[in-house]
Amino acid sequence: MAAITIEKLSKSFGNAKVLKGVDLKIENGSFFTLLGPSGCGKTTLLRSIAGFVAPDTGRIQFDGQDVTTVPVHRRDIGMVFQDYALFPDKTVFTNVAYGLRARKLDRDEIKRRVAEYLDKVGLGAFAERYPAELSGGQRQRAALARALAIRPRVLLMDEPLSNLDAKLRIAMRETILDLQRTSRTTTVFVTHDQEEALSMSDRVAILDRGVIAQVGTPQELYERPANAYVADFIGAANLLPVRVESRADDSIVIASFGENRLRCRNTGADPGADGKLIARLEELLLCEAEGRASSENVLRGQVIRRQYLGARTVYAVRIGSDVTINAEHHASAKRSVLAIGQPVDIVIPMTSRIVV
Ligand SMILES: Nc1ncnc2c1ncn2[C@@H]1O[C@H](COP(=O)(O)OP(=O)(O)OP(=O)(O)O)[C@@H](O)[C@H]1O
Ligand SMILES: [Mg+2]
Repeated sequence: MAAITIEKLSKSFGNAKVLKGVDLKIENGSFFTLLGPSGCGKTTLLRSIAGFVAPDTGRIQFDGQDVTTVPVHRRDIGMVFQDYALFPDKTVFTNVAYGLRARKLDRDEIKRRVAEYLDKVGLGAFAERYPAELSGGQRQRAALARALAIRPRVLLMDEPLSNLDAKLRIAMRETILDLQRTSRTTTVFVTHDQEEALSMSDRVAILDRGVIAQVGTPQELYERPANAYVADFIGAANLLPVRVESRADDSIVIASFGENRLRCRNTGADPGADGKLIARLEELLLCEAEGRASSENVLRGQVIRRQYLGARTVYAVRIGSDVTINAEHHASAKRSVLAIGQPVDIVIPMTSRIVV
């Protein structure tokens, strides 16, 4: 187990700057996730921590020890890849034993350790199978056992769940979390799936084209996104273009959207600034439009789409000529079903935040 410190890390491939001065502190024993869209540099950053990629500038430390130029096999890391990367011509036992043999443990200790870790991932009965004789989920469990059996200082995982079907993915999340919580191995996990990131991590770093957009606990990122990019990425949110008109008091600002007035949380945005109001689907109230003109914090619109998802229904509502807002009704709230084309009022909560 080790704390990881990354300072001013940069990497280019040809003319493309892929990492642009990344600074990160990853606490000893924590589950840390790198989250971001395809091509933002997640794998490049993870492979730099592993030692497969040599950064152009910057420094990586494990527990204060500079490992920037230390080769992969001397960094004491375990790695799990999206495509498993098991040796196809070796049994599950031999795959898991691989790193232990390289470390020259004695035979009995290797047997004991392999059995222990196959048990932990629920593959106790599969030691003599070959990878081709396993399901995708079982292969990923074998890869996880192989990475953990060496009891690495750092566990690195690059989209380990993305080749699994939805149900299996959730089961594997639980396996990985249970193993991480009991071993307290410092873990860096890469995903582009925000739900995976929020549900598994102690802390999450959101990457935007080679730059860290924000680092925080899942709750901090969800409740206090630093900018529109983070708000859009974490949890489905509507970003409504607004202008900050005035400050009502310490905690409230008045913003405008066209003719509409919106009271929202004061996040330090200055009057006159153009910003985005973050309105989360689950926070918006939709109701059948009443005769009167819309009042403060109420936007008038028209339902243009309805998606029934069982536990909830998501409505798309067009307001004005070119803005669409998504809102959802939970089945438990027993609200009336809204029809396509129906005029509706959207109530924006005063707790909504504006980012500039
Ligand atoms: N070895 C390489 N040579 C040249 N370009 C590369 C190399 N590795 C990565 N890149 C480029 O660097 C950028 C970032 O790639 P990276 O694999 O880190 O992204 P990612 O965030 O992991 O994306 P994904 O979610 O698709 O896996 C991409 O534009 C990619 O094409
Ligand atoms: Mg990648």
